[in-house]
Amino acid sequence: MSLNEKQNHGTGIDLSHHLSKVSRARKISPLRGLQKYMSKPGLVSLAGGLPSAEYFPFASVTGELLVPNSFPLNTESESSRSWFWKLFSRAEKERTTSFTVGKYPKHPGDLSLESSLQYSLASGQPQLQEIVHEFVERVFQPGYSKWATLIHTGNTAGFHAVVQTILNPGEGLMVSEWTYPGAMAIAQPYDIRAVPIGMDSEGMSSISLRQTLAEWDESARGMARPHVLYVIPIGQNPAGTTMRVARKREIYDICVEYDVIIVEDDPYFFLQEGKYVPKSERVSEPELDDEAFIASLAPSFLKIDYQGRVIRMDTFSKTVCPGARLGWFTCNPMFAERFERTTEASAAAPCGLTQVYVASLLLNWRYTGYMRWLKGLRIQYKQRRDHLVDCIAEEFHMQRTISMEGITESATMYHASLKPKRSFVPLSEKDLAFSKPLFSFIAPSAGMFVWLTLSLEDHPSFSSLGYKAVEMKLWTEIAEAGVLFAPGAMFSPVEVEDDTPGPGHFRISFSDSTPEGMKKAIGVFGAVLRKFMQAS
Ligand SMILES: Cc1ncc(COP(=O)(O)O)c(C=O)c1O
Repeated sequence: MSLNEKQNHGTGIDLSHHLSKVSRARKISPLRGLQKYMSKPGLVSLAGGLPSAEYFPFASVTGELLVPNSFPLNTESESSRSWFWKLFSRAEKERTTSFTVGKYPKHPGDLSLESSLQYSLASGQPQLQEIVHEFVERVFQPGYSKWATLIHTGNTAGFHAVVQTILNPGEGLMVSEWTYPGAMAIAQPYDIRAVPIGMDSEGMSSISLRQTLAEWDESARGMARPHVLYVIPIGQNPAGTTMRVARKREIYDICVEYDVIIVEDDPYFFLQEGKYVPKSERVSEPELDDEAFIASLAPSFLKIDYQGRVIRMDTFSKTVCPGARLGWFTCNPMFAERFERTTEASAAAPCGLTQVYVASLLLNWRYTGYMRWLKGLRIQYKQRRDHLVDCIAEEFHMQRTISMEGITESATMYHASLKPKRSFVPLSEKDLAFSKPLFSFIAPSAGMFVWLTLSLEDHPSFSSLGYKAVEMKLWTEIAEAGVLFAPGAMFSPVEVEDDTPGPGHFRISFSDSTPEGMKKAIGVFGAVLRKFMQAS
């Protein structure tokens, strides 16, 4: 760290040279500029064109909320029963608590429909802002002092604002070699070009990142060295990988060296399910208090960010519900101010009704209640992850190896081959070929997805069709048998051609299916694969 860097440590540095032309040109909308005065007590405003709250037809909003401890904290006492049991006992009355928000506040600072349903701040309603700010401080513990939070309408819209704010047409965006297609769909029409960075068992590789930046050849690439990195560090979509703090530090340091902004899209932060342990070796986990729970999670890039070069996007989509269309940015105030201007020029502000509901939920549960909810949620998804991997382990013959592809970490890799059908009949040569692994995966320690890497080289038509066509053929047969996996090519940030080298992938989600649904799907996968490998 240079002297200058040390002086700036903890307060952030000027990063305004990263702003796009569009963002620099965006002025504060004249009427919106007055809005910050609107909440001033006693103010008589004749300036705006606000509809009178008297004519809002909503007299109050009420809701029933699940209690924060709706889901158990350990898997042992109820084993996988808690999840199975819930599904089978819908008749069991859920424990709830209720809230009401009236049109006018009873006490100063109360949520009210008068202000929530009015034209309001692009940065979000003050009550929600306050909750989110405190939450970030306690949970993500940003490494510098001058950070800001800003409510947005989910990470999709958040990333759209990021693209408009810090990228110009013709620039490159560094992304993992497999990444969330929703992000690419936002960037590509602006002529933002994907620059894929290699991955390993922890997600984006710092070696590949350094190499890409160090060896950047502007004329060969036809664009300047990229200054923005998009990363999904936890429960990566689609690969399911999770980056630990050491890798994050390496990536952060490289970004400091090459002056790169890190966009951290982290919807799966609270779905850190922990390492997969095969059924026979599974033991119960201790229940953690809030601090131990936070300490047990892979931290955000925010925690190591001493310059303010991380734009973090959180969403309520996976922890509350996607229909809320609500989340928030944590970033340096210069970017936050520009995002606010961008929101003013698009949705004007996040939806007031949604903010009333989510703020009421969080005010009712309070910090400890929300933490309790998140801990319960983690266990629910852990059980789902375990069940899906258990189903694969039951359907296929599994071998474990330790993958050493990461630099600092190793991970257990599972290789699946077809189980011999008839154990007492001598295996034919063809059968032996089929006992070779047909796919492998690292059981994810976070998120919602298992990412299979396929090895279909022994398929009878492999030499004539090649990787991509064989994989697509298999995917189609599985779909026709009634099971939908996400084909790997969907997650490539660059066009996948028939002759693109390298094995293909399927992404299997465990987030939303019933236990029987998963079992059935994996059974169908096994049956189709068995037939597929014999078909000529
Ligand atoms: C990596 C990633 N980013 C963003 C989203 C969408 O988030 P939101 O619902 O907040 O728009 C998803 C949803 O699947 C995702 O996986």
